[in-house]
Amino acid sequence: MTTLYSARTALSLLFVDDEKRVLDSFRLLIGDLGYRVVTASNDDDAVALVSQQRFDIIFLDQFLGNVRGLDLMRRLAVQDPNAYFVLITANSTPALAVEAMKQGAADFMGKPFSATEVIKSIEYVMKKRELESERKEMVTTLEKLVDRKNEELKNVFCNVLSSLAQAMEKRDFGTYGHCRRVSQVACLIAAALDLDDTERDRLRAAALLHDIGKIGISDSVLGKTGPLTAEEWLQIKHHPVKGVEILEPIRQFSAILPSILHHHENYDGSGYPHGIAGEKIPRASRIIAVADAYDAILSERPYRSAANREQALNELAACAGSQFDPGIVEAFVKVDSRYQKMFGTN
Ligand SMILES: [Fe+2]
Repeated sequence: MTTLYSARTALSLLFVDDEKRVLDSFRLLIGDLGYRVVTASNDDDAVALVSQQRFDIIFLDQFLGNVRGLDLMRRLAVQDPNAYFVLITANSTPALAVEAMKQGAADFMGKPFSATEVIKSIEYVMKKRELESERKEMVTTLEKLVDRKNEELKNVFCNVLSSLAQAMEKRDFGTYGHCRRVSQVACLIAAALDLDDTERDRLRAAALLHDIGKIGISDSVLGKTGPLTAEEWLQIKHHPVKGVEILEPIRQFSAILPSILHHHENYDGSGYPHGIAGEKIPRASRIIAVADAYDAILSERPYRSAANREQALNELAACAGSQFDPGIVEAFVKVDSRYQKMFGTN
């Protein structure tokens, strides 16, 4: 409230009581203080008035014939959610005052009341309104701040993803390009499977970083073109676990860790690192497995030339049910033509 006088001149009050002498008394007590005062002697009149005009404060007698003031307050609050209520009663008890406040009354006043008590109540309610308004403004400001900070965090997260992916590229020639393509294909499959936005975002990130654990494999093993020894093969098979170890300290990655850990599991349980099968393998991992294999088959390797699209699709189909989830392979076939448009493969 800025000043008492300006509040008085601007405030509109409705006083509801079934006793004419109480209504007259209210008018008499504060009628010359500059407030706009309207009175009603029953609930129907009060409802009609509130539907026609706006009141800052509504004073309600608790006993309006057969109607309880608190019941009327709830009806009027629905009509005008911005109105403030003061409950009045001749039989005031602490229990009723507590109930009134619980149900949303801003103040409680006993009968008979003096001009000073009415003015104090008005001042109290207006102060309350002012504080609530400030609180709402503060909440709005804080919400905007949180939104901005979340946006900044999201950008940081994207930059971290990008940096990690580039780190992989430096360790393993061509890996980054591979991971980006796997991520894009995985997103196409996600669209075909109608995954929700959260699952798609997580899948995109997991697919981009699925081979991050290769950072922990020595150059001699990673770049080897000849057959791997048993020990070297063990190092390679450890990369999903290594990837989880690398990303684990970053809380924002926690949701994608299972997808990375299990991207080399096979649908029939013959994969690694845990040898789990079917639906026990996270769906994102099953999608990454198909996207990963497809891009690998289409890519040139030192020991073989790139396969064409038809050969790649045949290979995926041949391994559906053993290495791959048949449902994912089927979904992939639906989006394969879009993959061709994106990467122009043969
Ligand atoms: Fe991998």
